[in-house]
Amino acid sequence: MNNINIYWNQYSINHRLREIHHKHKSFVLWFTGLSGSGKSSIANYLEKEFYMYGISTYLLDGDNIRHGLCKDLSFSKLDRKENIRRVSEVIKLMIDSGLIVLSTFISPYKKDRKIAKNIIGDKRFFEIFIDTSLKTCSVRDPKGLYKKANDGKILDFTGVGSVYEKPINPDIYINGEKKISNNVKKIFYFFKNKIFF
Ligand code: ADX
Repeated sequence: MNNINIYWNQYSINHRLREIHHKHKSFVLWFTGLSGSGKSSIANYLEKEFYMYGISTYLLDGDNIRHGLCKDLSFSKLDRKENIRRVSEVIKLMIDSGLIVLSTFISPYKKDRKIAKNIIGDKRFFEIFIDTSLKTCSVRDPKGLYKKANDGKILDFTGVGSVYEKPINPDIYINGEKKISNNVKKIFYFFKNKIFF
């Protein structure tokens, strides 16, 4: 679309002032990994920790977003790209509002994660790779989706009929086979000195 007639309005209360209001910095913890890798469980525990410290957060969950904002999207390569673009724009606004965002999207394609980083800004984007083997995810199968995929009922399921491109150099590498509490601690300590002014 041609945006030639659309201007950017500047307002008095800006990002910096909102951060001061919240008494901490704002950025996104971008979790990526297979379905069932533990992204949501780890993010859930971590958000509780942040909450205890009085940090303003929001958790954006892939499944939940696909019930609303992205409910018109499939799991084709193109639609996954659009899914990541939309949520990245939402995250950008949430960061601008002063929140620390935890996002849990499979985000299987390197190219799309790069787009997300570009939209959000590399200083406010921390990639956390939850590395859990396909075998473990298939055994866990919390939603019964791996079974469906292996039975041929979902054709483009990530890890089965559709690829997952592992991050090569994530900000934080997490072995998703390990105890969740230790993984939460590892992430929490990484961010402890990055949150407050
Ligand atoms: S992404 O690939 O576009 O980043 P997203 O994180 O939004 O995926 O959604 C993933 C969730 O949708 C999975 O955790 C799973 O519960 C569900 N899902 C349903 N169909 C698929 C599919 N074909 N591939 C992956 N996940 C699927």
